[in-house]
Amino acid sequence: MEITVSRKAHFNAAHRLFNESWSDEKNQRIFGKCNNINYHGHNYELIVSVTGKINPETGYVIDMGELKKIIKQEVEEKLDHKNLNLDLEYFSNVIPSAENICIYIYNLLRDKISKDLDICVTLYETPRNFVKYPPK
Ligand code: NI
Repeated sequence: MEITVSRKAHFNAAHRLFNESWSDEKNQRIFGKCNNINYHGHNYELIVSVTGKINPETGYVIDMGELKKIIKQEVEEKLDHKNLNLDLEYFSNVIPSAENICIYIYNLLRDKISKDLDICVTLYETPRNFVKYPPK
């Protein structure tokens, strides 16, 4: 029997949505305010869900203290108070949309959490707009 445990976290970051192969006019038309040349910020909220079997010795799926530490090291320390376009090599050629940020975070965490456990990342870019990876 499997069960899912989740932890919330947050970070603040700036970004600009911009496709360098498009004209300024097209960028403005497609991305609107998100194309602001001097960037703009979001208060990102994150839910990391971990699904697996309960370890009978601990009663845990994962030690939440350990999960907290992994999220702090892999997500908060790398992304908090950063300009995603300028400060993160990964986004030098990937548009830092909520979708792409969510997949980036998933991959950072996936490397650090036991392969016996499934993980899912939900990223809120605003209180009403959020994305989830993997989708199922
Ligand atoms: Ni934005």
